[in-house]
Amino acid sequence: MNLILLGPPGAGKGTQAAKIIEKYNIPHISTGDIFRENIKNGTELGKRAQEYMNKGQLVPDELVVEIATDRLNKDDCKDGFLLDGFPRTVFQAEELDKFLEAKGAKIDHVLDIDVDRDELMRRLTGRRVCKKCGASFHIVNIPPKKEGICDVCGDELVQRADDNEETAANRIEVYNKETKPLIDYYEKAGNIHHLDGTVGLENLFANITEIVGE
Ligand code: AP5
Ligand code: MG
Repeated sequence: MNLILLGPPGAGKGTQAAKIIEKYNIPHISTGDIFRENIKNGTELGKRAQEYMNKGQLVPDELVVEIATDRLNKDDCKDGFLLDGFPRTVFQAEELDKFLEAKGAKIDHVLDIDVDRDELMRRLTGRRVCKKCGASFHIVNIPPKKEGICDVCGDELVQRADDNEETAANRIEVYNKETKPLIDYYEKAGNIHHLDGTVGLENLFANITEIVGE
């Protein structure tokens, strides 16, 4: 099962990804998470990516395609994978298709989660993530049991560097300009499903499993 989660920043891709990978037992590949891990570890890749991420801009295609295909070449992706936040440009989608074609593989479903702009801004600015395990919460929608503390591992919850008003707004703009055209791209491929991201976490997950199957 090869899946893509598409949708604007804050649509709930990461939140649904955690549930999808548990149910279907496939690896979660988030290019954003890979970059944040590299930033945390002070790698050269992290330093390059951070310049763009802090402004809410996309990291250059060549860099992204290389890290994504490297990850997809790992053994654990042989029986399926869930891509979250990749591809994000038509160029990236074309490169992904070439890569998969060469392996005789394809994307089964593109899950496009839609949420209006005001709600996206509320979700992004209210998000809190665990410093240690990366679990994600929201101060109003999905609050942790104890304020500022991760339910999963007990470490501290922090705000992502790009979740301030200005950067979040820019990320939504960049999505509309550079990523939204992917909807047309996958519409032509015939494997895209549109999902309302405001129906509640569990309802959205139920709608996803209906598409993907048991
Ligand atoms: P990335 O990490 O991919 O971020 P993003 O696409 O901006 O998406 P987010 O992670 O912000 O949102 P999400 O949809 O995962 O929402 P979440 O589930 O957390 O990318 C970051 C940066 O890296 C980019 O800006 C770019 O610079 C770079 N990058 C990454 N990939 C790239 C690529 N391919 N090409 C170029 N550059 C790339 O939910 C958000 C909040 O809402 C949370 O607080 C959550 O608790 C809450 N929430 C979730 N679901 C619900 C619900 N159903 N109801 C109510 N609240 C909910
Ligand atoms: Mg995410």
